[in-house]
Amino acid sequence: MTMKPPKPRNFAAFPTLISSYDLKGHECEQIVIDMIETYEKTGDHALVHEGQSSRIIGNEMFLNDKRLVSLWKTIQSCCDEYSEETGIDYTLIDTSWFNRLAKYGSVDSHRHERSVISGAFYPKCENGSAPLIFESPLQHYAMNISFIKQTRFSAYSEVFVPADGLLILFPSWLRHSVPKNQSDKRYTIGFNTVWSGIKNSDESWLGWSNNDW
Ligand SMILES: [Fe+2]
Repeated sequence: MTMKPPKPRNFAAFPTLISSYDLKGHECEQIVIDMIETYEKTGDHALVHEGQSSRIIGNEMFLNDKRLVSLWKTIQSCCDEYSEETGIDYTLIDTSWFNRLAKYGSVDSHRHERSVISGAFYPKCENGSAPLIFESPLQHYAMNISFIKQTRFSAYSEVFVPADGLLILFPSWLRHSVPKNQSDKRYTIGFNTVWSGIKNSDESWLGWSNNDW
């Protein structure tokens, strides 16, 4: 009699960590929305269509405003936790900026170069806001594979629907994009981190800017 195959042990090799945190109700929630709505130094960003970005010169430090110290610390703690989960050496929040996407706005596919862990925090996202879509880097290697059903091994994208207060952390090398937005308000704070080698959430900062906006 032919032996029936026993139940296999399956291994999801080489996973990629994307973490999400619900920061709704954070004490900086309203101030950060006000800042984004009244910020004057915005412009067009090559990757952002139908939207405004505070990322104009490339070394913006939006989260380093004194009024956002508490938010900076919370997000930095989340980055430290991400480091612990992945085994990545500790990083420190470096550049940060915001994007305001209008209706039908979108963001082209990109990765965050010169960064270790990157993040997107959504202080305000109305219903119908476009998702954040991550692309699997494995797709390029699987040129001879034809998938016939959706499984965790066949997914070429991971989709996150933004919501008020949602923070998403991901490795900076992971490509992502935003398709056409369907809401009137979709605010994102994006940020990068650099290697620091020490756990930073309480003590370290790069200097808080004055109210120069
Ligand atoms: Fe991005």
